[in-house]
Amino acid sequence: MDRFEILGGVPLRGEVTVGGAKNAALPMLAATLLAEGPCRLVGVPDLRDIRTMLRILEQLGVEATRRDDGSIETRVVDTEPVQAPYELVKTMRASICVLGPLLGARGRAEVSFPGGCVIGPRPIDLHLAGLERLGATVEVEAGYIHVREGDAGEFREIYLGGPFGPTVTGTFNVLAAAVRTPGTTVIQSAACEPEVVDVARFLVAMGADIEGIGSPTLIVRGVERLSGTTYRVIPDRIEAGTLLCAGAMTYGDVTVRGCDPATLTAPLAILERMGVAVERVDAEALRVRGGSRPQPVDIVTLPYPGFPTDLQAQFMALLSVAEGNSFVTEKIYPERFINVAELQRMGARIRKEGPTAIVSGVDALSGCHVMASDLRASAALVVAGLAARGETIVERVYHIDRGYERIEEKLSALGGRIRRTNPERAAAEVAGASLT
Ligand code: EPZ
Repeated sequence: MDRFEILGGVPLRGEVTVGGAKNAALPMLAATLLAEGPCRLVGVPDLRDIRTMLRILEQLGVEATRRDDGSIETRVVDTEPVQAPYELVKTMRASICVLGPLLGARGRAEVSFPGGCVIGPRPIDLHLAGLERLGATVEVEAGYIHVREGDAGEFREIYLGGPFGPTVTGTFNVLAAAVRTPGTTVIQSAACEPEVVDVARFLVAMGADIEGIGSPTLIVRGVERLSGTTYRVIPDRIEAGTLLCAGAMTYGDVTVRGCDPATLTAPLAILERMGVAVERVDAEALRVRGGSRPQPVDIVTLPYPGFPTDLQAQFMALLSVAEGNSFVTEKIYPERFINVAELQRMGARIRKEGPTAIVSGVDALSGCHVMASDLRASAALVVAGLAARGETIVERVYHIDRGYERIEEKLSALGGRIRRTNPERAAAEVAGASLT
């Protein structure tokens, strides 16, 4: 298996450009099921999860090709298939995003029930209740969710708030079905994440009638058909935040280009409270300069525009070398502290108290062998390894490849001493060479 070998203690310096947002591109690709014509998505990152979604779409009668310019062109060639199989759904929870578009486009769907993951239970009760409010019948049988369109009446109101706030992909699923459901749908407590806004704008570009985009209340009027369109995916704010953390933690000087500072208000405010100098270079670039040790802060993850749970692990790594005690509280996924044990192995002093981690900053971490386990927790280990004394080896980097495109190349270009190796392959090549 691929792993990263990192030599820490080198300040990152230079410019790096972020890619397109994974969590906008995934539902956007699923939404192409609704298009009666070709779509062209520009800026879709080349990630494992994107390739998984393309395989699922292929099984659902969508031809998708990545053009030479990097854009992805999709075309619905068969509207009969409605099943997203277990073999693919089990590898990526976001596969659930085909549920709403299939219901909207084909009137029925059979999607394998997605499991939980290391960040905790990942229920979809709000998704299913929302689709039922749209008149659909929903049955769970043999591990599959069977959804069929029904009588939606002329008007319906749907509440998408749950115990941990709105649901991001649940908002997408309900929206993707509602745009093709006759009559008017009012969605209350819709998620307002930039990725949800981006997908809603994509649906409007296809001909959907949606009011209130970006607010918690969406008003959707069903339309007869949606056409293909060309659309550029927004930048990945989580990748941008991860790179800012790396620049800060290595006391470097990093300019992150191609990002949208307006989607990072909460993380930028926290960095400033930590005493980390962050400069808005222009509307699409941020510059971070790590000077002195970060100051301790309190972080609480919340729905957008609150602090994003997807940056919690990376900021915890940064706080592990702060000058004092910080408190990190997870209000979205209370169990999302997988990286704590691995950071502790690197010398971090962290104590968990329920949904809060108390981080007592140390002067510096020491590199060691660590195991990646979840996309964002693994990115946090890379950030920690770049700052730690000595060598850090991060195993199972396929977790990182799910959400970060060639991150080792981007970090190396900033002067980071990180390389991807695969000992098993190297050993096999040596063995093969000795046999010839
Ligand atoms: C999306 O997941 C993102 N994934 C996650 O990013 C992100 O962490 C999460 O939103 C929160 O921002 C994609 O967009 C593909 P939710 P999603 O439904 O939609 C509870 C990453 O690293 N809930 O907004 O699955 C749920 O348990 C990934 O890129 C219900 O109770 O998250 C959680 O506590 C990880 N019932 C909270 O709501 C439901 O029906 C938010 O979940 C649905 C969710």
